[in-house]
Amino acid sequence: MDKIVIEGGVPLTGEVVISGAKNAALPILAATLLAPGEHRLFNVPPLADIRTFTRLLGKLGVRFQNGDHLTVDTSRLDCYEAPYELVKTMRAAVLVLGPLVARAHRARVSLPGGCAIGARPINLHLKGLEAMGVKITLKEGYVEADARGLHGAEIMLEIPTVTGTENLMMAATLAQGTTVIKNAAMEPEVADLAGFLTALGAKIEGIGTEVLTIHGVSQLTPAPYSIMADRIEAGTYLAAAAITKGQVTLTNAPVEHLTAVIDKFTEAGVRLTTDANRITVHPGGTLTGVDVRTLPYPGFPTDMQAQFMALMCVARGAAVITETIFENRFMHVSELKRLGADISVSGNHAVVRGRRHLQGAPVMATDLRASASLVIAGLAAQGTTEVHRIYHLDRGYARLTEKLSTLGARIRRMPV
Ligand code: EPZ
Repeated sequence: MDKIVIEGGVPLTGEVVISGAKNAALPILAATLLAPGEHRLFNVPPLADIRTFTRLLGKLGVRFQNGDHLTVDTSRLDCYEAPYELVKTMRAAVLVLGPLVARAHRARVSLPGGCAIGARPINLHLKGLEAMGVKITLKEGYVEADARGLHGAEIMLEIPTVTGTENLMMAATLAQGTTVIKNAAMEPEVADLAGFLTALGAKIEGIGTEVLTIHGVSQLTPAPYSIMADRIEAGTYLAAAAITKGQVTLTNAPVEHLTAVIDKFTEAGVRLTTDANRITVHPGGTLTGVDVRTLPYPGFPTDMQAQFMALMCVARGAAVITETIFENRFMHVSELKRLGADISVSGNHAVVRGRRHLQGAPVMATDLRASASLVIAGLAAQGTTEVHRIYHLDRGYARLTEKLSTLGARIRRMPV
């Protein structure tokens, strides 16, 4: 097991290329099951979660070839089960449920169980499938789905769940008739999946809106596709550059999907310029505490909450951070306090009182975005910060220490 060691206080400078999006690549990999044959996927990020997902698909009979793109061959489907030992390591494995239901008319998928940031049930995924005529049984910790009568339906989601919308949209592509999903998630990753499904021949209206209409078709055909850039990785580098008062340009950045993030950084005094798919952070702004509330897209993303909190730890004045998506997403607070941050939590509100300096210390990562916030804080802290349990980071950040080193950070990865 590795740890990351950071000597803080170095302003980051230079250019960093943003990778493909984890939360688009995972559902798109699942969707390849809908169209038997060879798919060519481009810009697939080299992440631990992607490797876990390909292992899962491999168990179902899918064959892969790596090269300048990823070839995914879904001609064969040997089984329709997503086992507990894989689902427990990565909840996104539940994304095979919709495609298996549509292609094999049956599925056996382990219930994901809770995770560090919340209970995260999948009741809305199952309720939507039942509305589409799928017989759902929960047995021995597994969802057993019998979908011989899969048909279109009108589904009103109580919450605009991201993977829930994705699962139902995928199931609907091959269902008899039309499905309408109301209060659908509008995250750009959902739209990227819809873009891939359309390339396979699916009939989808309202992409990017809260009402998705899917007209079922009899079959889908493989098509080449390039995964969108990762807006959360981009936001993470914005925070790293801003907290070190550096001059950094992000290239291949999904600027159009970062409006809420860019607005909040600008409001906090970070000097930013954008053009096409580039964002540049300039030194010289006065970092000031601003309040933020996480919301479904196009609101401020919950996946940027921890990183923004790290920034507010060294801003002038106070900031109130309100987490409205997950009930337990402040696990990074106690670790940031080990670096000298002044934060008090009450319910889903955290009050951050900015300090002039943070001091390096050993800290522990608890989940993917929490670990990114500790690295960001470590880049600004005086002295040495050690971040432990970085397997969390590897799940969602491609070559993080290399990229930060290229920007001048004194950072290295080493065995514990
Ligand atoms: C996706 O998770 C992302 N994961 C998460 O990113 C992200 O934080 C989240 O959306 C919100 O933006 C992937 O795309 C793989 P939700 P998901 O269903 O789909 C409740 C990261 O850091 N809910 O939109 O699991 C749920 O408990 C990860 O990359 C139900 O109650 O999130 C939560 O409170 C972390 N019942 C809220 O809805 C359901 O059936 C939103 O969850 C489904 C969800």
